[in-house]
Amino acid sequence: QSKRLAVPDIAARKGREPVAVLTAYTVSMARLLDPHVEVLLVGDSLGMVLYGFDSTLPVTLDMMIAHGGAVVRGSSRACVVVDMPWASYQESREQAFRNAARILAETGCAAVKLEGGEEMAETVDFLVRRGIPVMGHVGLTPQAVNALGGYRARGRSDAEQAKILSDARAVAEAGAFALVVEGVVEPLARAVTEAVPCVTIGIGASAACDGQVLVSDDLLGLYGAFTPKFVRRYAELGPVIGEAAAAYAADVRARRFPGAEHVFAARKAS
Ligand code: KIV
Ligand code: NA
Repeated sequence: QSKRLAVPDIAARKGREPVAVLTAYTVSMARLLDPHVEVLLVGDSLGMVLYGFDSTLPVTLDMMIAHGGAVVRGSSRACVVVDMPWASYQESREQAFRNAARILAETGCAAVKLEGGEEMAETVDFLVRRGIPVMGHVGLTPQAVNALGGYRARGRSDAEQAKILSDARAVAEAGAFALVVEGVVEPLARAVTEAVPCVTIGIGASAACDGQVLVSDDLLGLYGAFTPKFVRRYAELGPVIGEAAAAYAADVRARRFPGAEHVFAARKAS
């Protein structure tokens, strides 16, 4: 059994090798993805993808800890990073430390991720100095949906570009080992990647980043509701699952399932 990738292994890829990241929320998905990616991200996107909320704001710390633990138990190679949910870290750096420490201790993951720029730099510094590796997240930050007024791409004006670039710099300077850059125009993604010493992980942010992340359900064709422009669907598992369920149900109705081979013998052979 090979050793699990650690935070310094991910950080060391800057300027060397791209970093492949996928989301996972469950043991079964973690097992399937673990051999193929460097990082498994337990994203708070699970609020929308698994729980059907229309934003990530209702996601709780307990939900993230439950799913984070499942992904750690279902993986052995990937570095597991768990999202800090809305309102679990913005209040103070002490609140952030307390909740990040719970996530690390109760799931066994390697790092937490939190959204925000300059305003979160002090918190990132506080966590990192106390032994909690942090992945940042700038650009389109879904937990700020109310302030941003939706999920539109960011960085289309000069002012917005400058703001996101200083956000990225502040979080990187505070000690983040990696930075998700979401939903920004390509020149900005390139500028951020050149400006910061940590690995940038893009989503809807072009190939100019040091790595990429996608929501696995999107890439697998499992999440039908909406496919963003930046997703490439590598599989269409939705219809595969539908066909399996239909075949099973038809067999049940026709009494073709279970078959003789699925039935326990009445007596033990002696
Ligand atoms: O919650 C999530 O899945 C994320 C990634 C898309 C970066 O934050
Ligand atoms: Na997230």
